[in-house]
Amino acid sequence: MADLPADLRESLSAVLDPLPVDRLSAAVRRLIDRYRTDEPATDPILAADLDVAAYAAYRMPATYAAVRGALRRLDEALPGFRPARQVDVGGGTGAGAWAAAEVFPSLTGITVLDQVAGALALGSRLARRSTGTALGAAHWRPWRAEPDADLPAADLVTISYLLGELPAQARTRLVQRAAGTGAAVVVVEAGTPAGYQRVLAARSVLAGCGLAILAPCPHERECPLAGTRDWCHFPARVNRSALHRRLKDARLGHEDEKYSYVVAAPARLGGQRAPGRVLRHPAFRKGLVTLEVCAEDGAAARVPVSKRQGDRYRRARDTEWGDAWPPELRTPAAGSASGCPG
Ligand SMILES: C[S@@+](CC[C@H](N)C(=O)[O-])C[C@H]1O[C@@H](n2cnc3c(N)ncnc32)[C@H](O)[C@@H]1O
Repeated sequence: MADLPADLRESLSAVLDPLPVDRLSAAVRRLIDRYRTDEPATDPILAADLDVAAYAAYRMPATYAAVRGALRRLDEALPGFRPARQVDVGGGTGAGAWAAAEVFPSLTGITVLDQVAGALALGSRLARRSTGTALGAAHWRPWRAEPDADLPAADLVTISYLLGELPAQARTRLVQRAAGTGAAVVVVEAGTPAGYQRVLAARSVLAGCGLAILAPCPHERECPLAGTRDWCHFPARVNRSALHRRLKDARLGHEDEKYSYVVAAPARLGGQRAPGRVLRHPAFRKGLVTLEVCAEDGAAARVPVSKRQGDRYRRARDTEWGDAWPPELRTPAAGSASGCPG
């Protein structure tokens, strides 16, 4: 179960606990309704400081867990990757920066870009409490996703839960820009059919710019779920604080954030892809584990693994939705020579 780093938990409660819960709850409800429409935004959705605080309270734990999940897949695909500079685009209150600082302690320079000054201010306040990471010295820069907006140089670019707020053309341009920085790029969206479609579009832009697709896909062919009623998404279980439960009027002590993502990197980084990706919770019956696997050949199929298969069965029993299958094999991911301007 994913938990927030203790210093993030503490700084969130230092910021949120003094705020009036009824006003925060009302702002959370407004944001939930707004995000449910899944419409691009012409004006900032986080319009007031209370919205920013509400976002940090009810979304940051989940977006942190989702981005961390995607970054762990990048780490698996590029085990020697030690990024120094991260740019978190549309980074808001910094969930993607916290996740990157945890997965990649090599980071020494973190830049968070966002159009909402209040989100950057709150993010910076939260990050000041971080210990032992580059977060305390992160740069929080006003930035808007305009056609000519540059991205700073980076080794790692994260774009989480942003694309849905942009019109389709702006999404393409932004992902091209990210690819053009020469960095590894991680895009995370809601694990809904619409979020998956945005990730699918980002995946083709990244591949078109010559980056190797490293995860979740074990191939660069057409997604076998495209055009079906299914969609590629993964879970991240997140603990809920007491305030989080109150704000969402929830009883359970945890929630399952569903997210879609793509991880890509320039070929020079030498990424290794999983041979297959488990697409849903494995089904267990006595002596039999059945995995739904997206495989290297571009097909998604059920893979039964029976007790008679010994070690393979034991490994299947330990395998979870989102894991590689089989876990031990990796194949080189080539990418191509084409490029996109940064
Ligand atoms: C749903 S929040 C995601 C925040 C953060 N990335 C996360 O995962 O928690 C979307 C963020 O994108 C920012 N954003 C939306 N449209 C933008 C634009 N055109 N230019 C810059 N930032 C934008 C918003 O201000 C907001 O902070």
